[in-house]
Amino acid sequence: MNACYSYKSFALLAVIVSLIAFSDQVPAGDELNCVMCHKHRGLSRIDENGEFRLFYINQELFDSGPHRRNKCKDCHTDIDRIPHKPAKKVDCAQQCHIVEPSGQKKFTHKPIADTLARSAHGKLDADGKPKPYQDDFPECKDCHDQPFYRPISVYKGKVKSGVSERAVTRCKACHTSGDFAEDFYEHVTSRLRKTRFPLETIEVCAKCHQDPDFRERHELDDVVTTYKQTFHGKLIALGSEKTPDCLDCHVVAGENTHLIESQTVPSSAVYKDNVPTTCRTEDCHTKAGANLAGFQTHVTYDRKKYPLQFYMLMGFKALMALVLYFFLTLIFLELLRRLFPNFTFIKEKSVDSSPQQKKS
Ligand code: HEC
Ligand code: HEC
Ligand code: HEC
Ligand code: HEC
Ligand code: HEC
Ligand code: HEC
Repeated sequence: MNACYSYKSFALLAVIVSLIAFSDQVPAGDELNCVMCHKHRGLSRIDENGEFRLFYINQELFDSGPHRRNKCKDCHTDIDRIPHKPAKKVDCAQQCHIVEPSGQKKFTHKPIADTLARSAHGKLDADGKPKPYQDDFPECKDCHDQPFYRPISVYKGKVKSGVSERAVTRCKACHTSGDFAEDFYEHVTSRLRKTRFPLETIEVCAKCHQDPDFRERHELDDVVTTYKQTFHGKLIALGSEKTPDCLDCHVVAGENTHLIESQTVPSSAVYKDNVPTTCRTEDCHTKAGANLAGFQTHVTYDRKKYPLQFYMLMGFKALMALVLYFFLTLIFLELLRRLFPNFTFIKEKSVDSSPQQKKS
């Protein structure tokens, strides 16, 4: 009730504001002038569930993001008049007004949604039944948030963020009209490299895979901590970008980033027989042999799952304790001798030998 009231009054206020601010610049895709209202930082309320909702659109962020050529209405399809009713949830797999040039069809992320659906992250199992704990399965927005998007520029082999002006002028020699050159330059170059730093990718996966309750619900190991203990994990922590992160090992070869499968599925990149091929890429271990199949990234020293590693760890711990306590005992005995040089368990007959020694 209350929320509905504030919605109406907000909308009214916004209409008044809109009349005042009519001369403001409007982005190309914004024919319903959404930003006119949504540019106001204070546009927010507490919703029915008591959660704070922010309706402010940071236009600078929007204009530098991957969806800047989309109209607001491409995604918020149910909003067709102003002031508008409460909006429905956006479906990332719907079509937008942009035409994809190679197929001349309206663009959609549906292929990605389909890939995601048949990956380990899909919400339905092979028989089409919902897997348990539906809320744990990632949706697009769980892994993708706008501030993380950054264009990457490649010029003379150097990779920087942002569009290289020098490089883009080469395209402009032929593509002279509008922002065509800039747009497509960015479109291509941003895909020549990962758009996220490995540490950020790991953080995305860690959101779920490091959470103890999540791991218990799905009976999965603490893959993030164990990965960080490996040589790969340590190099990445030191700032390397050439070392494999989760995606380099887990994405099925020839598929897009969204096909991550369980190690039990024969087509998975980390299925036992596929591990050598996964390691043997141009950028990594070009000459990896079959014995690399034994490489385990996520060893947890669980006795049932990794008995060899468990007993080796136990063995090493025992050996270390033995060596440590042996020398500790030795040092302790040595100390005793220094403190009490004349102490002995065997009582000697002559009683006055020690006072005599003190005098000397
Ligand atoms: C006249 C001002 C105004 C205009 C123009 C406007 N909005 Fe809004 N919009 C609002 C207000 C006010 C709210 C907050 C409503 C509330 O309190 O629930 C809102 C909320 C929203 C929400 C969240 C609502 C929900 O229920 O989850 C979305 C999404 C949204 N607007 C999208 C758009 C889009 C897309 C356009 C352009 C097609 C647009 N708005 C144009 C005023 C406006
Ligand atoms: C590429 C698709 C896309 C475009 C383009 C887009 N949005 Fe959104 N918008 C989303 C998604 C996804 C959400 C998250 C809420 C959801 O899942 O429905 C969202 C949420 C919102 C919200 C509500 C935030 C909340 O807490 O509910 C507002 C307000 C909003 N958008 C306004 C706009 C305006 C104004 C524009 C145009 C400048 C715009 N959007 C363009 C996809 C889009
Ligand atoms: C489990 C996490 C995860 C989920 C869920 C996810 N993505 Fe992604 N997505 C990624 C990662 C990681 C990348 C690669 C980012 C990079 O290269 O740095 C990516 C890349 C992309 C790209 C860019 C492809 C390219 O090469 O430029 C698009 C588009 C995309 N995702 C759309 C989606 C859509 C749509 C959904 C929902 C149907 C979705 N993603 C769900 C993790 C995810
Ligand atoms: C020497 C002139 C020239 C230069 C330089 C050039 N292009 Fe092109 N480009 C063309 C021509 C001509 C076509 C159309 C060719 C065809 O359709 O077979 C084209 C087609 C394209 C297309 C396909 C458009 C579509 O809708 O099918 C893209 C994208 C593109 N160029 C991007 C770029 C980018 C990015 C650069 C700079 C890195 C660049 N071009 C540099 C001449 C050039
Ligand atoms: C929103 C939570 C969430 C995020 C974020 C997430 N995952 Fe998952 N992941 C899951 C769920 C849920 C499962 C399915 C577990 C099950 O089947 O019980 C899963 C399963 C997996 C599996 C298969 C495990 C097996 O053997 O059954 C792999 C591999 C995996 N995820 C890797 C990743 C990687 C890599 C990332 C980061 C790009 C990531 N996940 C991000 C929730 C998430
Ligand atoms: C160097 C390659 C490599 C990297 C990097 C890597 N993994 Fe793995 N991952 C594997 C292999 C191989 C397996 C199969 C089990 C094993 O051998 O340890 C696996 C297994 C898994 C599983 C299933 C574990 C289970 O309990 O069944 C999950 C989930 C997972 N990885 C997620 C991740 C996440 C998240 C990251 C990033 C923090 C990551 N992996 C980084 C190679 C890798």
